[in-house]
Parts: sequence; C-alpha cells; structure tokens
Amino acid sequence: MVTIFGYAKINLTLDILGVRDDGYHEIATVMQSLALRDELTLRQRAEGISLRVDVPGLETDARNLAYRAAALLIEECGIRGGVHIDIVKRVPVAAGLAGGSADAAAALRGMNELYGLGLTDEELRGFGARIGSDIPFSLTGGTVFATGRGEIMERLSDFPETAVLLAKPPVAVSTPWAYRSYDAHPPEKHPDNAAFLQALAHGDVHACARLAVNVLQPVTEAAHPVIADYRARMRTGGAACAMMSGSGPTVFGLFADAAAAAHTAEAFRRETDAEVHLTRTAKMTMIKRT
Ligand code: C5P
Repeated sequence: MVTIFGYAKINLTLDILGVRDDGYHEIATVMQSLALRDELTLRQRAEGISLRVDVPGLETDARNLAYRAAALLIEECGIRGGVHIDIVKRVPVAAGLAGGSADAAAALRGMNELYGLGLTDEELRGFGARIGSDIPFSLTGGTVFATGRGEIMERLSDFPETAVLLAKPPVAVSTPWAYRSYDAHPPEKHPDNAAFLQALAHGDVHACARLAVNVLQPVTEAAHPVIADYRARMRTGGAACAMMSGSGPTVFGLFADAAAAAHTAEAFRRETDAEVHLTRTAKMTMIKRT
C-alpha cells in the first residue's frame, strides 16, 4: 500500500503565444503549487483498476484522469496486476486548479512506488504529458515557468510563502471553450513574463502581484461576471492580487496578511455561493512516509 498527495496549482501568469499544428495552444505560464491537496491510497490487486472517491458525482472509470494514469503505466510497463485507488478529494473539481491532473500525477508516482517500476521523474512527466497538459507540473510542484503545451518545465526559485484564498463560483467552464473564445477575441493585455521572473528572482511579492496577468481571465469573465465580483471582493479584503486561475472559474487572492485572508474567507462564506478554501503557496512532497 502507498499513500501519495496530489496538490492544487494556480497560474501566477498565463500567456498564449499562438495555436500549434496539433491544435493546442503554445503557452508561457508561471505555475505555483498550493498546500491544498488530495490524498490517494493505492493498493495492489490481482487485475483491473478500481477507484473510490469520497465525494459523490465524480467519475470513477476511464474518464477519471487517475484511472487513465494507472491504466497507461499498466499497459506501457507491462505490469502484471491491477490497482485499487482511494481518493480523498479536497481540491475543487473543474476549477482551474488542476485537481484532476494532481490525482493523475499522484497515481503515476504511486504506481511507480507500488510496483517498483524505477521510472525517473522525467519519464513520469513524459507519461503524464500524454494524459493532460498540466500533469508534468503536478509531478514537479513548487514554482515553475512552463512553456510548450504547458509540459516543458523550468524550475524557479520558490515564491515566498504567502496566504492564498480560493473562491470557486458555482459556474462551469470548459477549458476547450475558453481557448476557443480566446482565439475569437484575444484580449490586448498580456503578462510580461520576463519582468515577472525578475521580480520573483528578487523575492518581490508585491511586484509579482502587480505583474500577475492571465489572458484567459477576460474571456471567461465576459461569460461569467461573478468572477469580476469575486476579484473585487478579494481586493476589498486586502488581497495584493486577485486573479482567475487557468481557464477558471476559481478566483485566487494573494494576501500578505494571513488574518485579512481569513476575514475575507469568512465574508465569502457569509455573502456568496462560493466554494472557499484558505491555503498557502507551498513546495510539495508527494509520497507520504509513515
Ligand atoms: O491537455 P488537456 O487535456 O488538459 O487540455 C484540455 C484542452 O484545453 C485541450 O483539449 C485544448 O482544447 C485546450 N488546451 C490548449 N492548449 C494548451 C492546453 C490545453 O488548447 N496548451
């Protein structure tokens, strides 16, 4: 048996540079892992894959990315045997926080441990990229500049530990739709990633907060004005930066003052329908050693 954590991420910047021949978009994004995480327990079984999740309504078949990750390694590494995966789900689903990718990353690393496959991190990231663009980051964590489809990783110095408030409005956003809408109406404002990386190298959280831009935010926000409302609430609460993560719909606020983040979390719980999590930027440790 092995227990592995899968961590939520936010995009501190997200730029789109163009459409590729394979239909994906060339992106340049600074990604950051958070302390908020799912917990997966993997157990060997004679054959086949079974999955149990502790929240209702989530797929437990091949539509689940953790299932697909386990199936891929069983197939490609010629594993004789199966796996049962139990998921304790804490990361909001379909939120722009890479929750599904986090579980897939945990399943890949978990299978590597459980069956002693001896795959390197690079090999795991290669398998991950075949399942989803965010999975290589979910296997890496910390603070990363990601390019290509999002699968090319450059480790950066860690973003200083900062309180992060997450508020997910009760709306559904499809990632392919967000990218298509971007193509139809590309917004003018792009992040200056070079300036952001420089600010990060100096550990200047305030400059980073000023330079945080997500090109998908205007696109998703136009369809879901609740996102603009949540960002305004975050700023009123004292957030140095309030932005949408990924293709949304989750809004995150970076708070220099953890008490202000806690007060703002309470206000969100009182006054909105948001799913609210108070967390912080974090490096990640995936394997739980008991
Ligand atoms: O890779 P993943 O399956 O997570 O991507 C989901 C969808 O998001 C893709 O089918 C594509 O429409 C869009 N996408 C993109 N360019 C990227 C990443 C995702 O167009 N770099």
